[in-house]
Amino acid sequence: MTRIAVIGGGRIGEALVAGLLESGRLTKDLVVVETHRERAHQLADRFGIRVTDDLADAAVGADLLVIAVKPGDVDAVLAPLGKAEIGSDRDQVLVSLAAGVPTARLEGKMPAGFPVVRVMANTPMLVGQGMSVIAPGRYAREQHLELVAEILGAVGKVVTVAESQMDAVTAVSGSGPAYFFLVVEAMVDAGVGLGLTRDVATQLVVQTMVGSAALLDGSGQTAAELRAAVTSPAGTTAAAIRELERVGLRSAFLEALFAAKQRSVEQGASAE
Ligand SMILES: NC(=O)c1ccc[n+]([C@@H]2O[C@H](COP(=O)([O-])OP(=O)(O)OC[C@H]3O[C@@H](n4cnc5c(N)ncnc54)[C@H](OP(=O)(O)O)[C@@H]3O)[C@@H](O)[C@H]2O)c1
Repeated sequence: MTRIAVIGGGRIGEALVAGLLESGRLTKDLVVVETHRERAHQLADRFGIRVTDDLADAAVGADLLVIAVKPGDVDAVLAPLGKAEIGSDRDQVLVSLAAGVPTARLEGKMPAGFPVVRVMANTPMLVGQGMSVIAPGRYAREQHLELVAEILGAVGKVVTVAESQMDAVTAVSGSGPAYFFLVVEAMVDAGVGLGLTRDVATQLVVQTMVGSAALLDGSGQTAAELRAAVTSPAGTTAAAIRELERVGLRSAFLEALFAAKQRSVEQGASAE
């Protein structure tokens, strides 16, 4: 059985623990390292798992060391982990969920040759519908990636890319939920403008998004095919889409994701 130490019991750490426990795996060999005492008690009560502030103790013998602290706290975690007596076992893998922290930086603070896998997650992970994109560091092997993919599969879907694509990934799926939320806000406001109550408009928009996502995921059809299917000649949808195209919705997304990728590159450069 895989032993996992989740370092950082915040929102992402908790989501991962909840997903793993719900999936029926790893009910015993899961330990959370959390320095915030009140939060540690909450997690222990909620999940009936071991929560400790002793990183060294939790890390020894763990197959997976999952870093789920804010990027600014990563160095404080790596300092004790990088000590040989804790982190010299090549069968262990360090998995970092910290946005924008390159594998080279993590590898540089661990014992030489230590396998590292970097993850770009997104917030739907909090409800078990995350998109986790994983990228291997220099020393991570196929079996390490498989293990990490299996674990993250408990909280959503998993795709593997080369680390050079992580900035593009950040722009698409990392920041992606915010784009959909913005579209929801705009459509709710429009519905209110058309005379619906905010409550009714919100229900209509959210369920339309959830239903459309399910259709896209389950029908085997592309977004373009599904859109064509609801766009009758000279109908209401065609009128709306004409306006969206006229104001440049497509190019707005192209420019927005390009800007997000550029920002990710800049942040990565300052994190090195
Ligand atoms: N939330 C998201 O939407 C999202 C999406 C994708 C990726 N991520 C990444 O996931 C990581 C975690 O994000 P989050 O939102 O879960 O953060 P969070 O809620 O702030 O959780 C981090 C937790 O770790 C604790 N902690 C800090 N230093 C520690 C240490 N040295 N040892 C053990 N525990 C420590 C913090 O305690 P204190 O409060 O006492 O500091 C806090 O409870 C981040 O790196 C972020 O980039 C987050």
